[in-house]
Amino acid sequence: LSTIKIFQERINLEIEKFLQQNSGNPSELYDPINYTLRHGGKRMRPLLLLMGCDLFDGNIEDAIGPATGIEVFHNFTLLHDDIMDNAPLRRSEPTVHQKWGSNIAILSGDAMFVKACQQITKTREEHVVKVLNLFLETAVKVCEGQQFDMNFEKSSSITIDDYVEMISLKTAVLLAASLKMGAIIAGASEKDADNLYQFGKNIGIAFQLQDDILDVYGDNEKFGKRVGGDIVANKKTFLLLKAFELANKDQRVVLNKLLEGPVADEEKITLMTSLFNSLNIKEIASVETNAYYKKSMDCLGSIKTTGNNKKEQLASFAERLMIREI
Ligand code: IPE
Ligand code: IPE
Ligand code: MG
Ligand code: MG
Ligand code: MG
Repeated sequence: LSTIKIFQERINLEIEKFLQQNSGNPSELYDPINYTLRHGGKRMRPLLLLMGCDLFDGNIEDAIGPATGIEVFHNFTLLHDDIMDNAPLRRSEPTVHQKWGSNIAILSGDAMFVKACQQITKTREEHVVKVLNLFLETAVKVCEGQQFDMNFEKSSSITIDDYVEMISLKTAVLLAASLKMGAIIAGASEKDADNLYQFGKNIGIAFQLQDDILDVYGDNEKFGKRVGGDIVANKKTFLLLKAFELANKDQRVVLNKLLEGPVADEEKITLMTSLFNSLNIKEIASVETNAYYKKSMDCLGSIKTTGNNKKEQLASFAERLMIREI
């Protein structure tokens, strides 16, 4: 059995334990928590946390509480994100707000955030303050990123730099912090922990870029979310910003019309996608994704550890993440 498989099984077991302890009354509060966490997902953040710990020869059992906490936190953000994005589907099932209503999704989400904080503190005494502080700082950054994401929907002056900053906040820093928390728990040096953070941040930017590509070009079944959702919501993704940059006068008129509406959802998705196609946007976005992936590999390379094969494990995990085969 590979290390990754062992870690995944350990994470699944701990999440199962967590759910057994969170299945009580009122069921309206706890059912959505179980529904969300039992529908899986890739569980890459807890895995990154354990791998970050293992990279510096830490004890996985010291990291499993925080790892569970990170996954609970991530799932909480999805409950609220799906309200904000008006998303009907998540992991190929109805979203919590779709199934039970927004009030339920808000409150179950709140409870998950509190439970996540409790899990994060389940590590060795000497690391609790550092780990919890990093987590809390990161959680506020995610809120900032989510607010920028919503602000950008209504703005027409967003640059690609703005976009990269926004996705760093809403997505990448959580991957980065997961790895760094693992490193802290293992007692890694500040410098190594920071390099690992940078690795995570760049892989996180690449990951969100790819998520934005898949939102347009993904396979409905495999993606598990509504394809075209970002187009409908006027999300200022790399794809849209690049299209604006490359569009000729006529194409720009079409773009503005689609953004300003009114256009029916399906028509908007079809027309926007064909405009992207004529500008070769998918390929350009993939090149950008690869650039961040390469950057992440450089950061990984600069970390000093005895176990080279553990670095290779992280590298090959990142590679599989890029083809979404984890
Ligand atoms: C979804 O994250 C939110 C983004 C940052 C794009 P994941 O793609 O990790 O979601 P799950 O947990 O695997 O479903
Ligand atoms: C998600 O970004 C970021 C957070 C959940 C914090 P998206 O809105 O693109 O994620 P999906 O596509 O709904 O999973
Ligand atoms: Mg969103
Ligand atoms: Mg969303
Ligand atoms: Mg998305």
